This record gives sequence, structure tokens and C-alpha cells, in this order.
Amino acid sequence: MWGIIATWRMAHDGVLAAKEMLAADAFAGDAMETAIKMVEDYPYYKSVGYGGLPNETGILEMDAAYMDGTTFAIGAVAGITDVPNPIAVARQLSHEKFNSFRVGAGATQYAMLAGFPRKNMLTERARRIWEKRCEEIAKTNLSPYDGHDTVGMVCLDQNQRMTVGTSSSGLFMKKAGRVGDSPLSGSGFYVDAEIGGAAATGLGEDLMKGCLSYEIVQLMASGLTPQAACDKAVYGFTEKLTQRYGKAGAFSLVAMNNQGQWGVATNVEFTFSVAVKDGVCGIFMAKPGGNQTTVIEPITQEWLDAYEKRIKAPV
Ligand code: GLY
Repeated sequence: MWGIIATWRMAHDGVLAAKEMLAADAFAGDAMETAIKMVEDYPYYKSVGYGGLPNETGILEMDAAYMDGTTFAIGAVAGITDVPNPIAVARQLSHEKFNSFRVGAGATQYAMLAGFPRKNMLTERARRIWEKRCEEIAKTNLSPYDGHDTVGMVCLDQNQRMTVGTSSSGLFMKKAGRVGDSPLSGSGFYVDAEIGGAAATGLGEDLMKGCLSYEIVQLMASGLTPQAACDKAVYGFTEKLTQRYGKAGAFSLVAMNNQGQWGVATNVEFTFSVAVKDGVCGIFMAKPGGNQTTVIEPITQEWLDAYEKRIKAPV
């Protein structure tokens, strides 16, 4: 068996590339890194890598993580700058026994010393969006925070190896040094190849209150299907957070077990991409269905056309 599941429509081209690699017996880590790099490299995705939106001060600070479900090796970066592929740096860090989670200047310095290329990741388009938002905020009392669509992937290869990875430019207009869930083990991602893995997207400040990726993996370990585990964790925690904290931000989780069964749950409309051997391959829309269930429907051509127009609309 092999399979890959990923957050958001933006992951789909990468998922298709990973699918070919997995069918040809590639290591899950290689297929997943290829897929995440494709998202990081695409300039019109404004929440990941090149073209990602900057922080409040106009600096593009990126977060990423890589985890191997066989060895539990984890590498992560937070607030890294000027590096084309934070996921590759995170993966390289996962080979380090110490200092495997680096932040800010230390993360960027590690990448430079390790020979990763250097690149200004702030596109002219992203800079214009930031500038416009700064003007809007100056004129209104609107909350500046918006947009935090992490790409997160769970991957299973033919040899039952599993990996999980994330990459994100984080919350748009975040304060300098703010870090979300994406590079945090248990919150943004988790995988145990004897069970399965999960990855998150959404408001990091709330996701890290529930450690939802770890929670989903533990629920799968207790015998729940990936779908039942996602439903229980996401809707249970949304309810708990609303009761005890007053509100729950938007969040969505994807999961896959080591049999290639998958699941998704979300407290907002959310697209995802999935491909499994001899099974489903495509982009889907997920929504909360009430009574702790998720409604999953294939994406329509109309939605895809509108999406394409929206991401490339003039600024
Ligand atoms: N989930 C991404 C973030 O909150 O930064």
C-alpha cells in the first residue's frame, strides 16, 4: 500500500508528483519533500514559501517541520528567512541529534552553512498585498490577522515507512518572532509508522492548545479509523475550546494510518488533496456535518476555476 494526504487545494500538483514517486517505490520522505517543495516554489500561494505573506514589519518569516515515523526523528525551523525550501532545511535538521529545532537567525544561519541556496522570498505581489493591508489597518479598526494556510502532508510508502511535513509563512501580519503550530511536534504534525500520522492547518494559537495531531494519532492507536479519530479530536476540541476559552479559531486536520486509510475533519470549509494506491486521487471539499461528522465532497470545476482566478487576481 502507499498513500499521501495533504491540506488545501494548493497541495494537489505536489500530491500528483508524489503519487508517481510512491508508485515507483520511493521513500515517503522523498515523495513528501518533493510535494511540499512544489507548494513552496509556486509564487501564487501566499501562505507558504516563495510569495508567502510577510509579518507586520514586512519580513517573510517561515516555519516548517519534517518527521520520520519510523525513527521519530524530527527537524524543524521557525522564523527562517531567505531560504527557498524550509522543508528541506527541516529535513536536514532531522538528521541532527541535537539542535534539531532552530529558530530565527540561528535557523537561517544553519541553512547557509549547510549549503542551502539563499533567495529573497518576498515577491513584489506579496509586498503589495502587505502594503495594502497596512493602509487598510491604518484606516479601520479591523483585525489585521488573516490567512494561515499551512501545507501539511502525511505520506505512507510501499515499505510501510511514514513521514509527515509542514511548511507555512504563518499568520499574515503576525508580530516578528511569532510562531504557530506548524513547526511544533504534536500540534502541527505527528507520525508513528506503527500507527499513522496527522497534520494541521489553521490558527496556530488554538491548535497548540489541543495538540491535535498527536491526539489524532493516539485515537488511531486506540482503534479508531482515521476519519473517526479526526472527527473526535477536531469537533471535541472545538466544543471544549468554545466552552472554556470563549471561542475556537478555524482549524482543519488530515490523517492517514499505516494501511492507507485516511480521514479529515474541520471546523470551517476546507479543501484537501489525497491519493492512495488503487483508490481515490483528487481534490475534495470538507465541511463540518453536525453531530461530530464531516461532509466530504469532490471539488467542482466551478470552484477550481474561481480559485485560479482568485489567487491570480491583480492586487
Ligand atoms: N497554522 C499556521 C500558523 O498558525 O502559523
